[in-house]
Amino acid sequence: MEKKISVDYSFTFPFITEEQFDAYKDEALKAMETLENGVGAGNDFIGWRNLPTEMLKSDEFKEILEVGNEIYTKGDLLICVGIGGSYLGTKAVTEALLHPFHNALPKSKTGGPKILFAGQNISGSWLKAIIDEIEATDSVYVNNISKSGTTTEPSIAFRYIKNVMEKKYGKVEAAKRIIATTDAKKGALRKLATNEGYRTFIIPDDVGGRFSVLTPVGILPIAASGIDVKKLLQGAEYASQYTTEKDFAKNPALVYAAVRNLLLKNKYHTEILVNYEPCLHYLSEWWKQLYGESEGKDGKGIFPASVDFTTDLHSMGQWIQDGQRFIFEIVLNIEKPLNDLTVVSDPDDLDGLEFLAGKSYDEINKNAQQGTLIAHYEGKVPNMKINMPELNEFYLGQLLYVFEKACGISGYLLGVNPFDQPGVEAYKKNMFALLNKPGYEEQKATLDEKMKTLPSGKVTE
Ligand code: PA5
Repeated sequence: MEKKISVDYSFTFPFITEEQFDAYKDEALKAMETLENGVGAGNDFIGWRNLPTEMLKSDEFKEILEVGNEIYTKGDLLICVGIGGSYLGTKAVTEALLHPFHNALPKSKTGGPKILFAGQNISGSWLKAIIDEIEATDSVYVNNISKSGTTTEPSIAFRYIKNVMEKKYGKVEAAKRIIATTDAKKGALRKLATNEGYRTFIIPDDVGGRFSVLTPVGILPIAASGIDVKKLLQGAEYASQYTTEKDFAKNPALVYAAVRNLLLKNKYHTEILVNYEPCLHYLSEWWKQLYGESEGKDGKGIFPASVDFTTDLHSMGQWIQDGQRFIFEIVLNIEKPLNDLTVVSDPDDLDGLEFLAGKSYDEINKNAQQGTLIAHYEGKVPNMKINMPELNEFYLGQLLYVFEKACGISGYLLGVNPFDQPGVEAYKKNMFALLNKPGYEEQKATLDEKMKTLPSGKVTE
């Protein structure tokens, strides 16, 4: 049988007790059943549950592989335009599995195109740098990804990129190099794609942005980068099977969801995702969106934070060890890293570290991990560990799915709808009003009034 990822929650005791854990099991199982039976809040957005299996056997998947392979072989640069759920999954997976300096290496070394991201901010400086790359590169493809097609950041980035692509290649060739991933029927991007004749892929109606990495949103650009998306989906499919287990010892999603909610009940309201491999930085960013947008509502939710160790042990380590006690950690433990080296000997031993000569960097990293875990535990920081046998497509697919499933269960345990994001609209309304968007006149008038009463005048010279 294939190996599974596992959750070790030994170091969350005594911050939760055996009695609490046992007493909570029924509630956690009920939350899982609610999700699986599709009877909870937001149940029109749970299409991600069977996505790996459906995607693997779909005709669309064959098409994705074809277009992905075209971009991989013919493209020197792929620009992914998107934000939030239309960006973070691809960024997380490509950073985790491609060479850490992928974009700095020639295609002869990497085999595939450079991957750059646009439309995930409103910075003109960022966009200018993207345009510079488009202009300097022979063969450029663009994947414009937006379910609504009206999200400000990617929309205004794409306007510029489209113009530059058409100037570079002419309208007809540019249209062959732009692929739109969007809603099946509605939305501005669907209309634009039809008008311009772009190839398109569909974001299913019943999958929200932050759960969409295994739809064409993530699968196409990840395939275009040369990563084996079939293995990624197979890993997720495997996890979709074992995360239906009712036996807690066999279901990492159920355990993770239950333990983090018990910790919250015991006043641990901030969770820090920890990695010891820099390539996992964006996995944490993806995870933060997943849990932040799913749970942070109605005055509830665990605050999701992240650190990259051992780097951040030299910045945040002091706080975690010794600061206010309301945090818990979840450590991503990669049992076998992608690569390893051995520390070389230096007989002068000026740094006093000759005792490490001959040891592998991974052995030292793992000892740093174990030492930190014990120190933080003794400093009263509950710790969980997620064990991944290796960092590859199969286990990463499992991890993505386990986090998604746990997020659904956890949201129901918390008593929120984990599949909506009403809070995201607040800043947009104000921004549009301030920018005089037609139709926002009333909001603008209210805002102008409000601005008069907002705190002001407390500025240093
Ligand atoms: O998770 C979400 O729903 C959001 O993060 C969206 O993905 C993000 O706002 C982008 O939306 P769209 O794909 O419609 O451009």
